[in-house]
Amino acid sequence: MPALLVSKSPPLSGEVTIHGAKNSVLPILAATLLCRTPCVLHNCPDILDVTHALAILRSLGCASERRGASVYIDPRGCAGRSVPPELAASMRASSLFLGALLAGCGEASLSLPGGCPIGARPVDYHLLAFRALGAEVAQTDDTISCRAQKLTGANITLPGPSVGATENAMLAATGADGVTVIENAACEPEIADLAGFLIACGAKITGAGTSHISVEGGHPLTGATYTILPDRIETATFLCACAACGGELTLRRTDARLAEPVLGSLAESGCRISCTHDTIQICRNGPLTACRPVVSRPYPGFPTDAMPVLLAAQLRVQGQTAFTETIFENRFGYVRELGKLGVQLRQDGSTVRLNGTPRLHAAQLFAEDLRGGAALLLAAMQAEGESTIFGVKHIKRGYDTLETALQSAGARLKTVEIPKKM
Ligand code: UD1
Repeated sequence: MPALLVSKSPPLSGEVTIHGAKNSVLPILAATLLCRTPCVLHNCPDILDVTHALAILRSLGCASERRGASVYIDPRGCAGRSVPPELAASMRASSLFLGALLAGCGEASLSLPGGCPIGARPVDYHLLAFRALGAEVAQTDDTISCRAQKLTGANITLPGPSVGATENAMLAATGADGVTVIENAACEPEIADLAGFLIACGAKITGAGTSHISVEGGHPLTGATYTILPDRIETATFLCACAACGGELTLRRTDARLAEPVLGSLAESGCRISCTHDTIQICRNGPLTACRPVVSRPYPGFPTDAMPVLLAAQLRVQGQTAFTETIFENRFGYVRELGKLGVQLRQDGSTVRLNGTPRLHAAQLFAEDLRGGAALLLAAMQAEGESTIFGVKHIKRGYDTLETALQSAGARLKTVEIPKKM
């Protein structure tokens, strides 16, 4: 079983290149199913979730090939209608293949999608959107099936601004006759990126990135060449690693505008930050002070996915702060693990209160989800002694070359194989 051995890190120094966004590339890979000709995606991160998405495409009959950071997809052989159960269970974003298959083939089925255990994560808003477009949807305890002779444009008001439901509604609406209006849509930049790809393929979409999206469906889509947006959560992770360990890092091929709430909290804590159009430089050579309390909100608020790494970066601050999670009801699993390092954290419902501790000690830690796993890694990089982190597969779901990038910046970590106890 792979595990990460992590020692206390010296101040970080160097440059890191940010990859394409996990949460953009997954819906865009599903969207390639709608095209009649091959697609090329540049800046495509080599992460486990992408491996699984490509396996889903192949299981449906598409051809795919990776060349470096570019992925070629030929959807012309797509004949399948259902996502294999083991791949559906591998990640939450498998649900996006429902909207794409429904639009492309009029039929789709999926066993209930997996993903990080951070909350109940129902798909009722997704299904509401499909039904509004005229699909028949049947759900059993473990499978969702959708079918439509014909999809027709409709007005869809989502009960909440769900990222996945907005993307699924957009995907299905591109295959519907007439105009679909999605109200109370999520505004995350990855939704605008999906729309950017679909528009490059010939779709007619306006308003993506706002809460009111309009899709004029029924236009045939041809494959396009598209470059995936930079990953704002990977960006936040490296910024927080530098804030946690001190030093100076330059992040390249990123976009500071997408990381504003995180940059704001880090500046409040005493980090110096300077940005160009595609770089962020962060420097922390003095003590870190507590940032103001943080509350996760849908975009453009503080991202729920960046809260674990910011919390980890605040463990040794002078002072007290608090983190309130409003999106997922079970996001604080990693907080229990952080307690093993000697940190002073108290969970009070959806809020974790933190009292900074100057010295942390090493421990055996178990990652249970992607961003919680990244938080454990950042915490271990601040602890005296050698920590072991199990559950590395969760971290690999969303980070491309995290270990080598941190090593090249001076961090002391390595993956080792630990035999399972008999
Ligand atoms: C996406 C991101 C995830 C991020 C999250 C919030 C991807 C692949 N994942 O997840 O990294 O943390 O957005 O920014 O892009 N909800 C319902 N019913 C539904 C759908 C959602 O009640 O049908 C609720 C969820 O339980 C949650 C909230 O809406 O409380 C937001 O979830 P949503 O935006 O859908 O998250 P995901 O798309 O799963």
